[in-house]
Formats: sequence, C-alpha cells, structure tokens
Amino acid sequence: MHAAETRLSREVITRLIGAAILAPSPHNSQPWIFRVRGRCIGVIADRTRALPANDPDDRELASSCGCALFNMRVAAAHAGLGTRVHGPSAACDPDCLARLEVLPDTTPDATLAALHGTLAQRRTYRRTFAARPVAVAALDALVAAAAGEQAWLHVLRGDSQRRLAAELIAEGDDTQWADPAWRRELAAWMHPRRRGDGLVLPGLAVPLAQAVVRTFDIGHGVAARDVQLAAASPVLAVLGTRGDDPASRAEAGQALQRILLTACRHGLQASFLNQPIEVAPLRMRLLQAIAQTGYPQMLLRLGHPEIDLPATPRRPLDEVIEFVPDSPRDAGC
Ligand SMILES: Cc1cc2nc3c(=O)[nH]c(=O)nc-3n(C[C@H](O)[C@H](O)[C@H](O)COP(=O)(O)O)c2cc1C
Repeated sequence: MHAAETRLSREVITRLIGAAILAPSPHNSQPWIFRVRGRCIGVIADRTRALPANDPDDRELASSCGCALFNMRVAAAHAGLGTRVHGPSAACDPDCLARLEVLPDTTPDATLAALHGTLAQRRTYRRTFAARPVAVAALDALVAAAAGEQAWLHVLRGDSQRRLAAELIAEGDDTQWADPAWRRELAAWMHPRRRGDGLVLPGLAVPLAQAVVRTFDIGHGVAARDVQLAAASPVLAVLGTRGDDPASRAEAGQALQRILLTACRHGLQASFLNQPIEVAPLRMRLLQAIAQTGYPQMLLRLGHPEIDLPATPRRPLDEVIEFVPDSPRDAGC
C-alpha cells in the first residue's frame, strides 16, 4: 500500500483481519465483524454471538474485540504500516467499538512488530503449568505491556492474596454452575471442530457432554479443580482498567492481548480464572483483596506450558468481513 492510496489492498485486508480472528474470546464465540471502508477497519461487536448468562453486560465481548484490534495493530506494524486507533463517535454505529486507520506514511511501532511471531503461537492453556518459576524480567515485561495500553496488571504476591483469590474463584464456580441458564449457555457452545467456533470436543462426545453440563451442577468439583490449578500456577495476576465503559473494556482487550503475546515471547502461556469478575458481587471483593483502584477485567494464570496444544478453530474470513463503499459525506463507521 502506498501513502497516496485511500483504500486498503486485498492483501493488507487479509493480513490484518487474518491476524484479528486469531484473538481469544469467551467460549470461542468470536463476537466480531470487521467493516472495511477506505483506509479504516471498524471493529463491530457481533451481539448475535453474545453470552447473556456468562457476560450479561457484553463486557468480555467488548474485550474480545479489543484483542482482535490489537492483533491487527501487530500485523500492520509487521507489514511496515503505521496505524491510529479511533474510539467510537456519536455518529457511529453503536456496535462499532473502535476503528483502525492504516497510515502507510507513518513509522510502524517496532515493539508491536516484534510480537508478530507469537500471534499463531498463543493458546489458552488450561492444564497445570511446569513447576518452573517465571523470571522477574518476564513479569516486568507483562506489567509494562498492560501499562502500554492504559491498563494495570497486578501480580498476586504472598499466600494471603493468592488464597483469597482462590476462595473467590471457587465461590464464582459454585454460583455459575448452580445457574441452569449459565449451564445451558455453556452446553450450547460445546461444538465439534468442524463448526469453526465454540469449545471443541470430539464430535461423538458432544451430545453426552452437553447433556451432562445442562443437567448437573458440578460446581463443587470444578471449584476444587480450579483451586488446585490456581495454587499450582507460577503466576496469578489481575488485569484492570480505570474505567468500565465499552471503550475501557475494548482497551482492556488490547491490554490483555498485549500481555498474552508478550507472555508468549517469554515462552509462557496463560489461561483465565475469570469467575470472580464474571459474578458481579465478587468483583469488588477481588478488587479489595488486591488493594487496587479501578475495575478488574481478567484474572489470569500464567506459566511455562508442558506440551504444545493444537490451535482452536476459527470461522472463515468471509463470514466476518463487511465492505462498505466510501462516501465523502460520511467518513465514520
Ligand atoms: C475476555 C475473555 C474471557 C475468557 N474467559 C475464559 C474463562 O473464564 N475460562 C476459560 O477457560 N477460558 C476463557 N477464555 C478463553 C477462551 O475460552 C479461548 O480464548 C477460546 O476458547 C479460544 O481458544 P484460544 O484462546 O486457545 O485461541 C476467555 C477469553 C477471553 C478473550
């Protein structure tokens, strides 16, 4: 793409949105649409893919879109293109969370470009991590990654903070599993790999697994396992933001993805223990436990993976891209 061009080439669009869809999302719901107009790509919340029981305010949905936006910034920088992120404006589609403007005549961010190799390596790693500590330099890089996106990452230190967090995780598991609507929603997102989204199970196992999840409250067992996982995690950390409006939530997503990709660069993977943030009454108790101000957005566990996991599936690009003709009157989204 040359500076004088006002449209993104097919190649650039495919590179950027191909990177975007590698982002994580709760239940692998992939709740995004990318609206291409001129030199901009709008990140649109696809609320038909919302999770009303797990995420009633679409908070995690907005953060997932923020993760996808961050991946596009990385892919653009790697392709030698500068970018600028525009927040939503009053004139925009209310589901448009942000727009990425590609600026070929500005210098790309070398720090972002250096993360490109990790885009396809990142996994949500729900297993026990290797019993190796995480280096202080890696932890410092994760904290700096959050700060670089106007967010904070609080690493839980000492037994008492970690124990309090584990208690809240267990309470969150109990609450979520006791709710039949939450279990039904989880069951509905258990899919065979060929579907291209959702939590992947072997095709033959799907009906039985769905029936078990729909029918039985196994919260106690899940809580016991999560407490063990938390206790054995080399790092537990809370990502938070100053605000909690949709723009802050999208920022939280950009910070999350910057942390996850930076973690990968240091040989680490992560997974989520978000229950004490998803269950509203527990969220402020978590904040008090870590003595921070603002809004917790994610509770992460991080460490060195013991095995390589296969990538989870994604929907094809043509299902998530919309092209909008340029109109001189309306340069928004
Ligand atoms: C905002 C957000 C919240 C998530 N919450 C959870 C969670 O509570 N528990 C969990 O196991 N995974 C959680 N995930 C991870 C997704 O399940 C995972 O991203 C998805 O299955 C795709 O897999 P991948 O990350 O390996 O690509 C979350 C991801 C995002 C972005």
